[in-house]
Amino acid sequence: MIGSSRYRTHTCVGAADAVGERVRLSGWVHRRRDHGGVTFIDVRDRSGVMQLVFHPEAAGAIEAAKGLHPEDVICVEGDMVPRDAATVNDRLPTGGVELRADRLEVLTSAAPMPFSVEDEGAEANEELRLTYRYVELRREARLRALELRGAVVRAIRAVLDDEGFLDVETPMLTRSTPEGARDFLVPARLQKGSWYALPQSPQLFKQLLMIGGLERYYQIVKCFRDEDLRADRQPEFTQVDIEASFVEQEDIQSLVERILVAAFAEGGVTLTAPFPRMTYADAIRRFGTDRPDLRFGLEIQDWSAQAAESGLGVFEGVVKGGGVVRGIVVPGAGAGMSRKDLDGLVAEAQQIGAKGLVWAVPGEDGALRSSVKADFLAGLPEAFGAAEGDLIAVVADRERDAQNVLGMLRGRLAERHGLIPDDAWEPLWVVGFPLVEWNEGEKRWDSTHHPFTSPRPEDVDRMESDPGAVIADAYDVVMNGLELGGGSIRINDPGVQQRALALIGMDADEADARFGFLLRALELGAPPHGGLALGLDRLVMLIARAASIRDVMAFPKTATGGDPLTGAPAPVDDAQLKELGVAVTAPPPAAG
Ligand code: AMO
Repeated sequence: MIGSSRYRTHTCVGAADAVGERVRLSGWVHRRRDHGGVTFIDVRDRSGVMQLVFHPEAAGAIEAAKGLHPEDVICVEGDMVPRDAATVNDRLPTGGVELRADRLEVLTSAAPMPFSVEDEGAEANEELRLTYRYVELRREARLRALELRGAVVRAIRAVLDDEGFLDVETPMLTRSTPEGARDFLVPARLQKGSWYALPQSPQLFKQLLMIGGLERYYQIVKCFRDEDLRADRQPEFTQVDIEASFVEQEDIQSLVERILVAAFAEGGVTLTAPFPRMTYADAIRRFGTDRPDLRFGLEIQDWSAQAAESGLGVFEGVVKGGGVVRGIVVPGAGAGMSRKDLDGLVAEAQQIGAKGLVWAVPGEDGALRSSVKADFLAGLPEAFGAAEGDLIAVVADRERDAQNVLGMLRGRLAERHGLIPDDAWEPLWVVGFPLVEWNEGEKRWDSTHHPFTSPRPEDVDRMESDPGAVIADAYDVVMNGLELGGGSIRINDPGVQQRALALIGMDADEADARFGFLLRALELGAPPHGGLALGLDRLVMLIARAASIRDVMAFPKTATGGDPLTGAPAPVDDAQLKELGVAVTAPPPAAG
């Protein structure tokens, strides 16, 4: 154990095995109770909590104990004894013993706490918890999440180290590495007017390492993306970044499966490899998303053919206009829903982008409650395979919009109606992504992943003639509806790379200015290579069964990208700006 015997002979939990011994512990005052002339203190260290008992015979010690405040840092000494049978607490690893303390030293006394450490539910205000994150980290749940994170990292490293992957660091001060987000920029003092970008990922450097002959690289690395935050996104986050030479898609997939099996084992979850594969097209068609949650069914069903003949104007019109009529069945959900609940669903669907929604709930003896009264709806339950009490939700729209809305409703309704089993784990590879997607707003093609992703060899010839039909040699790993990682086989031919950049609207001059270094490297002997990056925070969030990636990061940022603890981001003084050659045109609002 690290820690000098001046402060401790055991950890709190370790001391439970030292009955009959003289023991010294150090830690924080977790809780104090005075009871019948005896004072009980729970002292807490990283391992857990130990009950101390101060009896009146230990005169000096009990007096000092009575004066302790929550979170004072103390060192105590005494004899480990078994508890009386009546006071044994089976729920605690140290619940069968206590330390009869006769010496107490206050190492540091603590000011009143901003919120209770002991009562983990006590403070809901996240801003306050993040301002005093170090106090929050003392809570059991936070501490165990970071321990789990450490264990997951160790397990991942063990797999990669064993398989000959080399841990190599790549620069943090670099040029833009496009992954679809905005860059965080750093002004260069020595070259005024020039800026470094913090990496959105080490993508280009890991490819250069392959060209450099390293063959197997990994890095557990911070990445930076200036994008809007959500429960599963942070502006700085950690990737398990991997690249290998002379590999095909399946090699990377099976490596990642070995990594994920080892990682989830740390959380007591047994995953079975190989994981199932699904094409992007099937995922969109069946689940309305490229990261389907397979813990429940509720697959999207097509009703366009019947709807085209339905006599109902909106449906017929949509189908005639090239759109679709599709829906989902939520087993048992309709039975308990009032007309108001069901109409609320229509409003919800509209809020997430549907033009409208038709609902229907089969009742007894062929009766049907529905949002529109039309004879043809009588055939709906049979067509959808719906039984009494099920909810049928139907959307008519352009295919993309209908799929998108139904995909979102599918997840929300499954959650709301308790259709997602506890502790179910459904990993999936999504493959066969399109290389590029049409951006209607900007009227151009965007990379589906990043522009270094290789098209399937058989599609290279169609890159210019039919870009939307080109399938990429790319793969995402999805778990329970969350994208855990993404990767691809890379372009290793400079001509194809140039064409891929041209496809997303980059002419030769711009391509040369931004990625000339890569294009030249590709000319100088680039092996076939590919890789993938896992989002470590998301991975640990899942394994820890946490609700947000913030729960598994030591010092996360708020939804507006701030750190209430240090006050970052913060203005800097004029002298510093001048030195950097930077002028601020939009000064921050005055403090206070
Ligand atoms: P991609 O952009 O898919 O791929 O990122 C890989 C994984 O990183 C995680 N991730 C995030 N986690 C938290 N907060 C964020 N803001 C955030 N953004 C991404 C996700 C995602 O699946 N260079 C490629 C990988 C490759 O091709 O090898 C890349 O970065 O879990």
